[in-house]
Amino acid sequence: MQLDRIGKGALSYVLLSEGEALIVDPGRHVDRYQAVLEHFGARAVGVVDTHVHADYLSGARAAASKWGVPYYLHPDDAHSPYDGAPGRFDYEPVTQGDGIAVGRATLQVEHTPGHTLGSITLVSEDGLALTGDFLFVQSIGRPDLGGRSAEWAKVLWQSLERARKRWPGELVILPAHYGSDLERRADRTVAARFDVLAATNEAAAIQDERTFLKWLADHTPVFPESYRTIKTANLGLVEVTDEEAEILEFGPNQCAIR
Ligand SMILES: [Fe+2]
Repeated sequence: MQLDRIGKGALSYVLLSEGEALIVDPGRHVDRYQAVLEHFGARAVGVVDTHVHADYLSGARAAASKWGVPYYLHPDDAHSPYDGAPGRFDYEPVTQGDGIAVGRATLQVEHTPGHTLGSITLVSEDGLALTGDFLFVQSIGRPDLGGRSAEWAKVLWQSLERARKRWPGELVILPAHYGSDLERRADRTVAARFDVLAATNEAAAIQDERTFLKWLADHTPVFPESYRTIKTANLGLVEVTDEEAEILEFGPNQCAIR
């Protein structure tokens, strides 16, 4: 199930198999996910952040402790990109090649850094890829939010190159954001086949590194003030009240480059 936070353009997912559920990139309103679990009579077995978010406050840690299940995160995202301070939370590290089981399914972890150094994509056996903020239907995740844009842009290029070499055309890309309804399919899902995306997504269609890096530099919007605070809060390094969260999260996401 793709859960759409309209206004924010943020997508989270509940993957269900045999009465078990894995929740991916949940927002802080955990009741939504609880309602989905109850609707399907499913039991949560894990919660994943595809990366430490900068545009919204994650509900993953709260959900994982509420349900008594592991919180999965890539270790490269478990510390602050700004000063290296380790995040204050318990988590289950997942890296390239690891599998996360849910019911009869196994999700394969692929390390797809660039938007953050610990960004992962979850690939299911039946051809779905939850790309987080690595790759969107019509855009790509901005590499500047850690404050090291030149370095991370190159890492992003390598992730894109690896994906183009390895991912089959029929893989269905399910991102964590969208910018407009043009990124929806007829059934309103935000999704695209990888081969279609690779041909129509302006950034993902670029074939040489220098053009890609220049395109990123030319199109990256201004760094939103609140994003540093949100990321730091998601690392458990500052506390944010519900009122502050409303203000910090205001407006659509700015994780994509257009
Ligand atoms: Fe994001």
